[in-house]
Amino acid sequence: MDFEYTQEQLAVREAARDFASTQLLPGVIERDIAATFPKELILQMGEMGFLGMMSSPEYGGGGMDTISYVLAMEEISKIDASAAVIMSVNNSLVCWGLEKYGNDQQKQQYLIPLASGKSLGAFALSEPEAGSDATSQKTTATHMGDHYLLNGTKNWITNGNTADIYLVIAQTDSTKGHHGISVFIVEKGWPGFEIGKKEDKMGIRASDTHSLMFSDVKIPKENRIGDLGFGFKFAMETLNGGRIGIAAQALGLASGAFERSLQYARERYTFGKPISEHQAIQFKLADMDMEIEIARLICMKAAKTKDMGKDYSKLSAMAKLYASKVAMETTTEAVQIHGGYGYVREYHVERMMRDAKITQIYEGTSEIQKIVISRSLLR
Ligand code: CAA
Ligand code: FAD
Repeated sequence: MDFEYTQEQLAVREAARDFASTQLLPGVIERDIAATFPKELILQMGEMGFLGMMSSPEYGGGGMDTISYVLAMEEISKIDASAAVIMSVNNSLVCWGLEKYGNDQQKQQYLIPLASGKSLGAFALSEPEAGSDATSQKTTATHMGDHYLLNGTKNWITNGNTADIYLVIAQTDSTKGHHGISVFIVEKGWPGFEIGKKEDKMGIRASDTHSLMFSDVKIPKENRIGDLGFGFKFAMETLNGGRIGIAAQALGLASGAFERSLQYARERYTFGKPISEHQAIQFKLADMDMEIEIARLICMKAAKTKDMGKDYSKLSAMAKLYASKVAMETTTEAVQIHGGYGYVREYHVERMMRDAKITQIYEGTSEIQKIVISRSLLR
């Protein structure tokens, strides 16, 4: 495995780092407090190519590899994990799935605006009673000849109110289990499509999370992606890549909190010396750095394996499981190293600790990642 990044990958990392520190950092605390979606900043990210990084240039994307995507996600997440999840959903759950499995008409109509950042996408799999147990879909899409009628409720949808285009997973034949689930492209504003209230969250508060309600929403049959019954496989394949994005988000939260802790430990004096000279603090820093390094290696291995066209489902689950654990532990230790200052907003690490928790829940909880890993071992 090559441990050197290419010039192109380094340039992407630099651009993301620069954007995060100059544009995202000012206002990140206020957006967290007020739960304000960073609309203008997301538009800027689209213009810079961060919303369709891996999509082909033919469809408005950046044509970059997954390593570049992980590097950019890490840098954005170091500063603003809310902006990072908005970016991750559009890149890996929406653009990737559309490019891989959509037909040319769907790509022309939907992928080009999504990958070029002119539109924003959402991915709607979860329901009130179908989160981890994703095959228990209750939302139905009934075939009516030249269209489908969509009915049901989706829960917890990231970019729920800010998206323009939604990939919606629904039952088309409940007698066929997960082979009776299909996936559709739905546009905001179609009659019968309502957006529920915004969730008031512990973390990633500047990303908007909503339920979606569908009541006889008419979807043209041309908006089904892939074959009838392909929707569950589509969701699983898409999530394999999405989990690399969330692993990178977790990595960024961990490395951002670590960098702040390292600096703070040098500046804060107790008992006549910087706290970095107390061995208890040194050992925390050593553990944090080592765990981040391991998390980065596994994220990069998953990304590289995807770029090589090999099966990366187990590695992406491992990357998300490990990096999210490291994010939670590292951000918690970062608060500890900051003492009382860590408990107030001004020092950022309390937000990072709240933001880190979600990385162990969405795109499959940690328990579900263990199911994915163990099934891959035992099948
Ligand atoms: N990659 C490819 N295919 C997969 C797969 C994977 N990782 N996991 C399962 N499959 C396939 C299986 O091969 C099987 O296909 P066949 O029958 O054709 O062989 C099919 O899916 C069903 O698999 P299982 O029998 O294992 O299904 P299950 O019901 O026992 O459980 C599960 C599957 C892995 C637990 C799945 O339900 C799951 O991943 N749940 C978590 C859902 C999730 O991650 N939701 C995230 C929502 S999006 C989100 O959260 C976005 C965000 O926050 C920003
Ligand atoms: P449950 O499935 O009810 O799980 C509850 C607990 O039981 C968990 O600890 C879980 O690990 C455990 N558990 C469940 N089954 C098992 C098992 N078989 N073995 C062991 N333990 C098990 N979904 C989307 O589709 N699109 C989105 O954009 C999206 N964004 C989200 C954003 C946020 C902020 C949040 C909170 C969620 C989002 N989700 C999204 C939904 C997310 O993917 C689900 O919340 C997650 O998959 C867990 O489902 P659940 O909440 O129903 O928990």
